[in-house]
Amino acid sequence: MERSVPGAGQAAGLRLLKPCLRRHALRMATGLLALLAVDLLQLGIPRFIKQAVDLLEEGAATQAALARSALAILLLALAIAAGRFLWRFLLLGFSRLLERDFREAFFRHLLTLDRAFFQQRPVGEMMALAGNDLNAVQLAAGMGLVASLDAAFMGLAALACMAYISPGLTLIAVLPMPLLALLARLLSRRLHRRFLAVQEQFSRLAEFARNAINNIRLLKAYGQEEAQAKAFARLGEAYVRDNIRLARVHGVLFPVSGLIGNASLVLVLFLGGRLVIAEVISMGDFVAFISYLAMLTWPMLAVGWVANLFQRGLTSLGRLAGVFAAHSALVEPAAPEELPVSAALRAENLFFSYGQGGPAALRGLSLSLRPGEIVGLVGRSGSGKTTLCHLLARLYPVAEGRLFCGDLDVNRLSVSGLRSRIAYAPQDVLLFSESIAANIAMGRPEASRAEIEAAARLCRIHEEIVAFPQGYETRIGERGVKLSGGQRQRISLARAVLLDRPILLIDDSLSAVDLETEQEILRALAAHLRGRTCLIVSHRIAPLRAASRIVVLEEGRVLAQGGHAELLRQSEFYRTMNRRQGRPGAEEGQDAG
Ligand SMILES: Nc1ncnc2c1ncn2[C@@H]1O[C@H](COP(=O)(O)OP(=O)(O)O)[C@@H](O)[C@H]1O
Ligand SMILES: [Mg+2]
Repeated sequence: MERSVPGAGQAAGLRLLKPCLRRHALRMATGLLALLAVDLLQLGIPRFIKQAVDLLEEGAATQAALARSALAILLLALAIAAGRFLWRFLLLGFSRLLERDFREAFFRHLLTLDRAFFQQRPVGEMMALAGNDLNAVQLAAGMGLVASLDAAFMGLAALACMAYISPGLTLIAVLPMPLLALLARLLSRRLHRRFLAVQEQFSRLAEFARNAINNIRLLKAYGQEEAQAKAFARLGEAYVRDNIRLARVHGVLFPVSGLIGNASLVLVLFLGGRLVIAEVISMGDFVAFISYLAMLTWPMLAVGWVANLFQRGLTSLGRLAGVFAAHSALVEPAAPEELPVSAALRAENLFFSYGQGGPAALRGLSLSLRPGEIVGLVGRSGSGKTTLCHLLARLYPVAEGRLFCGDLDVNRLSVSGLRSRIAYAPQDVLLFSESIAANIAMGRPEASRAEIEAAARLCRIHEEIVAFPQGYETRIGERGVKLSGGQRQRISLARAVLLDRPILLIDDSLSAVDLETEQEILRALAAHLRGRTCLIVSHRIAPLRAASRIVVLEEGRVLAQGGHAELLRQSEFYRTMNRRQGRPGAEEGQDAG
């Protein structure tokens, strides 16, 4: 995980906020005006106190005069309450809107990233970013912004009023304050580092929990509940430790700012009192001065608090910016060529490795799929069958001049355009926690029930679906726990069939289905496959009878290809596979890769 230094990433993060700020500028401006109005009104109160005290001291106070002062203060207080409601509503609402916009943009951005990104950055971390970190940003943009402006304005205004009463005494009162600024500066770096550690630890915690819950069946089967609980507790322990380390820093800031405020009070009481005795200032002035000083307490406390909020917000913003800076390696070409009419796919001396500098999964693979041709693909586990499907389905970037659709390099074609030509049933079945119908119709949400059922029938799953109490409306539990592997595979295949596209890639999608059913499905599919370019990966030979050609992969390249009889002559691997699968009762051929 990258560790950013303060400043790096934060600038990028702040740039991210700009569009949101612009969108809600009016709301923010109105809120800030209300905030300033409240501050101004608050400054009026000590003036009325001074009036009353001075009258009292001069012995000139009357019931009516006191009542007038009291009424004035009451009216001010009402206006202040109304203003406070207004700014809270507008500004805190603003921070929530900002959070919403940001979360949406974050999710949208995550959807543009590819698997390579998510292999490096666990989902738990993304959840933590969208939760805790976004919250820290929201707090900084809401309370942080409000408090800092409020504190700055209140502080300056109170100081101005104090200076108006007695410049000398004001100077004495602010004497201890630079200490505070110094302290905030000293601690802010430390705050950043410690808060970053806290957020990263929370990410680990979230990822750990996600992983455990996702694999709960496995954990139970292996009796690992206790060990997992302990490991989780250790992570939680570390999270608390990091939080306490953080609390130690702002635990210093907060009391120290209060202490400095009180130090000012001590100085003013003692030295200001002497000014009253010497009759340099009036009693009323002295009381008003102390009221203003009390108004300074909040801005002083706010310095520590706001420094903390902003530091957290900036740190989290930097973490979020790190994700926003990530981009999919597979980008749409600036000026894509028109998609060729032909549904032919061709790989020429194709090399591919997943990580940079990682082992090559494909090593000089050349293969041509003619339009309307059904090609079978077999090969040992790890020989690159799935990788080839990934590349054909345009899920990973490929080098120039290696992969062609029609006669055009795929790099010159729109990625989404080419993807929309291809129906891909991946080897790893992925189902959403939604109804079976919605799962089958995922690529074509507008498909009619009749179309969905037709696809399910082709894949020999219809009967089983209608046997569920809720039929097609049956919800598939988290990761499809209620279905067998074979059922899941057939639903996944039906999803690809429903897409009705000129190119179909089936990656070992029937490995958990019994041989008879697999053959039955392929027979039923035969009419659907006609006219489509089709690549069927299988670890069984029998279902590939319909293929016009079978290709054997070995270590990322084509070892042999041809018809069944031809391959029996040519390929040792194929012969072995055939021999093992040919004998009834013999173990199933090569393992599913
Ligand atoms: N997502 C991935 N990241 C890194 N390596 C991978 C990934 N998927 C597959 N591989 C590696 O690529 C090679 C080919 O795998 P794969 O295409 O899945 O083979 P097959 O489908 O024929 O079993 C294997 O060595 C495998 O370990
Ligand atoms: Mg595979």
